[in-house]
Amino acid sequence: MISEIKKSGPIPFSDYMARCLYHPELGYYARPEAVTVSKEGDFITSVSVGPLFGKLLALRLHRFWLANGSPPSFSILELGAHDGSLACDLLAAASQIDPAFSKALSYLISEPLPSRRALLQSTLSDKARIISHPAEARYDIGALVANEVLDALPVPLLLFSQQQWHEVLVTVTDGKLDWDSRPTNPSSAGLPDLTLSQDYPEGYLTEGPPALHHFLSPLSECFEKALFLWVDYGLDAASLYHPARSAGTLRCFHKHRSNVHPLDRPGEQDLTADVNFSAVEQAASQLGLQAHPILNQSRYLTHCAKDWLLSQPSPKEISQFQTLTHPSQFGNRFYALELTKGEVLRAFP
Ligand SMILES: C[S@@+](CC[C@H](N)C(=O)[O-])C[C@H]1O[C@@H](n2cnc3c(N)ncnc32)[C@H](O)[C@@H]1O
Repeated sequence: MISEIKKSGPIPFSDYMARCLYHPELGYYARPEAVTVSKEGDFITSVSVGPLFGKLLALRLHRFWLANGSPPSFSILELGAHDGSLACDLLAAASQIDPAFSKALSYLISEPLPSRRALLQSTLSDKARIISHPAEARYDIGALVANEVLDALPVPLLLFSQQQWHEVLVTVTDGKLDWDSRPTNPSSAGLPDLTLSQDYPEGYLTEGPPALHHFLSPLSECFEKALFLWVDYGLDAASLYHPARSAGTLRCFHKHRSNVHPLDRPGEQDLTADVNFSAVEQAASQLGLQAHPILNQSRYLTHCAKDWLLSQPSPKEISQFQTLTHPSQFGNRFYALELTKGEVLRAFP
């Protein structure tokens, strides 16, 4: 990367983030042998807490399937499937919940990285079809599931200095990666109007939204009728761009420690930013999808868990439920956003 930048000049931070995470050989997510998402790796997710997360999502999807006439074919498209754990948990739970539901299911994973596709194919074998782009999926009815994917989309980094917004760039100085910037127009950088009227302090740093239209557009075409379920950490635009949030939300994760040094260890640490849920809702509605009220993970999973809670769950599952819903763990910082497409009965709560 250093030699490329030396040759072609500074690159926008979003390009840098894309290369760090998704370079086909050296990217953080492209190396299946690297231990990243797990207790032994850099960070854990709701999926790594245990199989209960997949079971609760299976219960949610089962309700949606029933409400829409128990169609004989129902496709689940997962994004960011990582090592396939959520797929296994969800499919195993579906067969326990209702054999007819399980029989109707076909499971797809859209994974742009070839190395990860190969890993998923060998782990999941015939349990799932692995595709490289959502354009390969065309179904009548189904659901999309994505846990902690939106926070991993490359974002532009923006700086307010001398009464002017700047796009942050990555350059090379004395052979090392370094920061640079150039003036930008806040709306062309994807910042909402509220950033025009606020009185931001000198040095205020924030992230613009990722390329959401480009990301969501092919996904919106996968189904005629669907439920889209996004679970992630994030904020609405007013909170994200509050003048007091002066350092933005971009963070790096390495061995369960978070830091704010994105130019360190390119490709060896995770880079992530809070999801701007307002921007996701806006992009979705421009694509004809309907956004439903967002709930924190605690409330969302508690609604999904209604029947399961009455079924005398094991102490192990109760402990997973506590981790997933406790406000100091995954309960309050994570949110679930449901979108629907077409004439469907959402059946929630
Ligand atoms: C933080 S990991 C989430 C892992 C897993 N879902 C979990 O909850 O444990 C983010 C994942 O999103 C994937 N991702 C990012 N952009 C994607 C895209 N356009 N399509 C599919 N997956 C994507 C990354 O490759 C990475 O595996």
